[in-house]
Amino acid sequence: MTDSSLTGKVAYVTGAARGQGRSHCVRLARAGADIVAIDACAPVTEHNGYPPATSEDLAETVRLVEGEGRKILVGEIDVRDLAGQQRIVADAIEQFGRLDIVVANAAVLNWGRLWEISAQQWQDTLDINLTGLWNTVKAVVPPMIAAGNGGSIIAVSSAAGIKAVPGCGHYCATKFGVVGLTNSLAVELGEFGIRVNSVHPYGTDTPMGNDTSIYEMLRDHPGYIHSFSPGALPTDSLIAPDQVSDIVVWLAGPESSLITAAQIPAEKGYLKI
Ligand SMILES: NC(=O)c1ccc[n+]([C@@H]2O[C@H](COP(=O)([O-])OP(=O)(O)OC[C@H]3O[C@@H](n4cnc5c(N)ncnc54)[C@H](O)[C@@H]3O)[C@@H](O)[C@H]2O)c1
Repeated sequence: MTDSSLTGKVAYVTGAARGQGRSHCVRLARAGADIVAIDACAPVTEHNGYPPATSEDLAETVRLVEGEGRKILVGEIDVRDLAGQQRIVADAIEQFGRLDIVVANAAVLNWGRLWEISAQQWQDTLDINLTGLWNTVKAVVPPMIAAGNGGSIIAVSSAAGIKAVPGCGHYCATKFGVVGLTNSLAVELGEFGIRVNSVHPYGTDTPMGNDTSIYEMLRDHPGYIHSFSPGALPTDSLIAPDQVSDIVVWLAGPESSLITAAQIPAEKGYLKI
């Protein structure tokens, strides 16, 4: 499929080594954008039940974006590193001359009841999922305003940022926080022509979405299963990252020009069940 609606644009994607972040890089590149991609490519918290991304994963993202005929600038940077994010954004402006699209996607998910998780587990999740997003905002917004081209910032939240889910209250707290940050930022950035929206996937086919440690939590607390119902559409399969990218590319482009401060579901109707 060829698509050139984003030709001449530059997109910054966090958590780009694999999963949804990689998919967003490839699809934004296919739509014509050059890409700036960061990922920690390392263990980021000891509490995850799934493996960390690697340098090889990020190299594969580079290969795929270049395969779409677009340029890509990458950095092995943790979203908790504000100076690191500011540095690569400055490099991107120098190299590409502009920044139009931001996909704040990096996050972690792990399990435990709120009063049983450790202070470290709580803090790691807040630092990565929420402060990491604020760091991204702090790094990208000043050069986007200075460029005067408007733009689109897309924050990846979760269905768990709209509906309370037991067994991951610390994750929910951050993903609800993403909504508050998104909507306040949208109001603040409206005068600069920069739109800000959040996307809310349900179970998606990535290392995070295939984390089997959820089953230990459901074994210990079987009643929680009711909070993990199927969606309304007749499929019980995990969502393909490419399907979330359909929404991200739409939010990045001119077809969504009226949409800001919005929460876009990517969950097959799960939130209404
Ligand atoms: N997979 C799901 O079922 C699901 C459901 C709802 C929402 N989400 C959200 O979608 C987004 C993408 O998740 P995914 O499913 O692709 O997971 P994933 O674990 O496959 O990918 C996440 C990427 O983010 C990177 N990352 C994590 N912490 C980082 C940090 N501190 N600094 C830099 N990079 C970091 C990881 O290295 C990894 O490459 C996340 O915001 C997640 O919360 C996922």
